[in-house]
Amino acid sequence: MCGIFAYLGDKKTAGKLVVEGLKKLEYRGYDSFGIAEKLPNKFQIIKKVGKISDFDPNKAKLASTNLAIGHTRWATHGGVTKLNAHPHLSSNGKIAVVHNGIVENHDALRKALQKKGVKFISQTDTEVIPNLIAAELEKNDFPTAVRKAAKKIKGRYSFVALKHDEETLVAARNGSPLIVGVEKFYPKNDGERHGKADGSAFFIASDVPAFLAYTSDVSYLDDEQMVVITRSPLGDHFHGRFFNLNTGEAVPKRIVSIELAAGKAEKGSFEHFMLKEIFEQKETIAKALNQDEKQLKLVAQMIKKAYGSFFIGCGTAGKVCAAAEYLFASIAKKHINVIFGSEFDTQEAFLTPKTLLVAVSQSGETADVLEAYKIAKKKKVKTVGVVNVAGSSIARSSDVILPVNAGVEKAVASTKATTAQLAILTLLAYTVAGKLEEGKRVLAEAASQINDFLNPRYSAHLKTIAEKIKNVESMYVIGKGADFPMALEAAIKLQEVSYIHAEGFAAGELKHGPLALIEKNTPLIAFVPAERFRHDVLSNVAEVKARGGMIIGVSPKNDALFDEWIRVPNVDTAQPIVNIIPIQLLAYHLAVLRKNNPDLPRNLAKSVTVK
Ligand code: G6P
Repeated sequence: MCGIFAYLGDKKTAGKLVVEGLKKLEYRGYDSFGIAEKLPNKFQIIKKVGKISDFDPNKAKLASTNLAIGHTRWATHGGVTKLNAHPHLSSNGKIAVVHNGIVENHDALRKALQKKGVKFISQTDTEVIPNLIAAELEKNDFPTAVRKAAKKIKGRYSFVALKHDEETLVAARNGSPLIVGVEKFYPKNDGERHGKADGSAFFIASDVPAFLAYTSDVSYLDDEQMVVITRSPLGDHFHGRFFNLNTGEAVPKRIVSIELAAGKAEKGSFEHFMLKEIFEQKETIAKALNQDEKQLKLVAQMIKKAYGSFFIGCGTAGKVCAAAEYLFASIAKKHINVIFGSEFDTQEAFLTPKTLLVAVSQSGETADVLEAYKIAKKKKVKTVGVVNVAGSSIARSSDVILPVNAGVEKAVASTKATTAQLAILTLLAYTVAGKLEEGKRVLAEAASQINDFLNPRYSAHLKTIAEKIKNVESMYVIGKGADFPMALEAAIKLQEVSYIHAEGFAAGELKHGPLALIEKNTPLIAFVPAERFRHDVLSNVAEVKARGGMIIGVSPKNDALFDEWIRVPNVDTAQPIVNIIPIQLLAYHLAVLRKNNPDLPRNLAKSVTVK
């Protein structure tokens, strides 16, 4: 949440590079953006409300400079205004900062700074950071001032700072991700041992794809660390030095070459990333199944041995965990505990070194999950990460990783990562049951069925249904067993991109309250199984039909109660995976018909790095 991008290097087009980098980070926040270009002894600041993707750097009067920082915002403190957009300057104009995270003690810090005569012009928590640094500069050099300022901040954050008269870039991290990219890295200098790297240019970004067009040599800034980038004494290249934020000591750092292909995150012939990613599910389930069996069996053993396993996730990943609870019960006859990442801290009393934490996360950066990891580490709980982004904070903090292998997911609403996560957890349940081969067969069959039915004609059918319901005020989704969490997930998908009020329920719960909400033509989407529980769910459907509801049945078999039938294959325990796909398409078409941008829904962000 919030995207940060910074450049210091040999090119004089730093401003343009920052704008281009920010465009690749837009999914992290898109209510406003800004850049600071360093000129001799001052900054040129450009800030705008709106999306960075609509900004043409060729039409702006960008400076000729080799040092700039930028930010694309998802508002936390202070409304969406130009003044609240980053970068923020110290009141003396000497320091510029872009920030991701929350300064929890901003109120106290602001009051203390005001007493010293500092004038604040925005409503953000961020504005205290440049002013803290400026205050520390009275007695310290720039990097030390940043370090001392960082120590005063409470909360999860990352930020990058510039000083008006220095060719230096300083970044600090404590919670929110920051990755350093080194262009033309000179490995002979042995950065690993000396906590130092040399390159012709340095990039700092919230996520790797932002600078992947220039370099794939990266270094992950860890929590409580900072990086200082300066020109080398010889003047022909740049140094990056890494330090412990608390002690100021140099820290060893590895530069790793990563394999992500920059081109893969492009839309291709699809109008939106969301549609492209929905269609990629023709391949991603099979890729998700491509797990290292040793690791899978190791995790299965950990689950069997654990005195309580907690599966945690947020948003869609939380719904995937909730589906896993049913899948583990039916496939492995094993109980697992499921809880949202943000609620995990309430379970502290149950955690012992015998507990296992399995975290599911697409981005691997979700703050609520990382906070759970902190508690887990404290209680010596072992951790397993089911993560899509390799090298992410959760991936790096997990004892064991099961990679999701879905490739870059750009649309804010998760689709292909969801079904890949479901496939992995289903396979894991089979592994716990000692039936890995059977699991592979069931899921491979589902993957091939998806490849079959997911085609433009199927999408067109969903569009026809979307046309019929595009103006409704509310809709409801029901399911039983693992389809109940899928009903919750379906509702999230519909809310996120169509902005229609949607809610999911356990099928049998409708009659205990929500039935009062059904009016003539209120759409009810029902996941109706082919065999077991079919009659139970159909009874619940009939209750809605009797009250005038419009029934959209998602099922391998048609039924007279359905006003619309969305056919899905009958795939045994992989049913939740195939059931959610048509609803992803329905949500997509509703968004487009209602003139919403399905890739960047209002008020949301893909990577939620604040609590
Ligand atoms: C955000 C995204 C959701 C996602 C959730 C958890 O809210 O918009 O699509 O499910 O975060 O993200 P994670 O990266 O941990 O899966």
